[in-house]
Amino acid sequence: MGILTHTMVDMISLMPESLIWRFARRYIAGSTLSDGLAVATEMTKQGALTTLDVLGEDISQDREADQALMNYRTLIEALSERDLIRNISLKLSQFGLKLNPDLMESRIRSLVDLAKEHDCFVRIDMEDSSTTTRTLELYREMRRRYERVGTVIQACLKRSIDDIVTLQGEGVTNLRICKGIYIEDPAIAYRDYQEVRNNYMKLVRQMFDGGSFIGMATHDDWLIEQCLLEIRKRGLSADRYEFQMLLGVGEHLRKDLLQKGHRVRVYVPFGEAWKAYSLRRFRENPKIAWYVIKNLLNFV
Ligand code: FDA
Repeated sequence: MGILTHTMVDMISLMPESLIWRFARRYIAGSTLSDGLAVATEMTKQGALTTLDVLGEDISQDREADQALMNYRTLIEALSERDLIRNISLKLSQFGLKLNPDLMESRIRSLVDLAKEHDCFVRIDMEDSSTTTRTLELYREMRRRYERVGTVIQACLKRSIDDIVTLQGEGVTNLRICKGIYIEDPAIAYRDYQEVRNNYMKLVRQMFDGGSFIGMATHDDWLIEQCLLEIRKRGLSADRYEFQMLLGVGEHLRKDLLQKGHRVRVYVPFGEAWKAYSLRRFRENPKIAWYVIKNLLNFV
């Protein structure tokens, strides 16, 4: 992230929450569980699939991790009571990965057991590279407990192709592929924009070659076009893959894909930690940060 974007986002963070919310609400369902469920219902009406995420990642106390577990338990029960699509995404750091890994694992075990009871798919998001090996290990353990657990592979990491081949050898069949959001050391990661795209396609081809199901998480129209070419070339039916997008991003692409008969899953974040999540979105996209600043200056 450039210094200018950093400064802009720091400025935005000092603005009143009500003003930030005007721009954040495009990316966030709201601060409560019912906000999340309402947006999920709306997305389903529009023909999309959903995965729900309770916001909150960089926690500093165990009680926050316990709270995350409670929030996710309530979410799974609510999805099942309302007969909504049972699919959640979570970050291990929110469950205490960096505070107390053993406690984090026991929280995840208990959540996965509840998910199994309710037939709810659990996607373990991938965080920075210091957590990759541990995340994959825990993922393997959870998958032995309940087969409807998936994780994420990042195209920016050089290790990813080997991770996929190893996982496929172990019988893994469902992974989300994304570019990877964290800034990583060039020794272990591709940093060039096109290099990341090329590696993304290499991973997609490996997944399809191995007969795996892919969640292709991207809003990059070039990548989507390349994925569609692979799908056409292989004559794959629409139940072999899905596209995945963040709420409020790439809406025209989502509608276009749905119209053409592809499955698209929308990542629906909600929760009280919406402000930190929004600032992260602004950091990722300097154009939006500029737009927010310009508009905020008109309000004050
Ligand atoms: P790119 O960054 O080139 O974006 C293409 C266009 O989309 C941009 O020009 C912009 O217009 C728009 N856009 C993209 N991201 C935007 C944003 N945040 N806000 C506003 N506009 C945006 N990463 C990770 O490390 N671990 C994970 O577990 C996940 N999980 C995940 C789930 C889902 C469903 C998605 C869509 C993405 C993730 N990611 C992730 C994030 C991913 O790694 C990546 O950082 C973003 O998707 C942006 O990359 P694109 O492929 O969209 O391309």
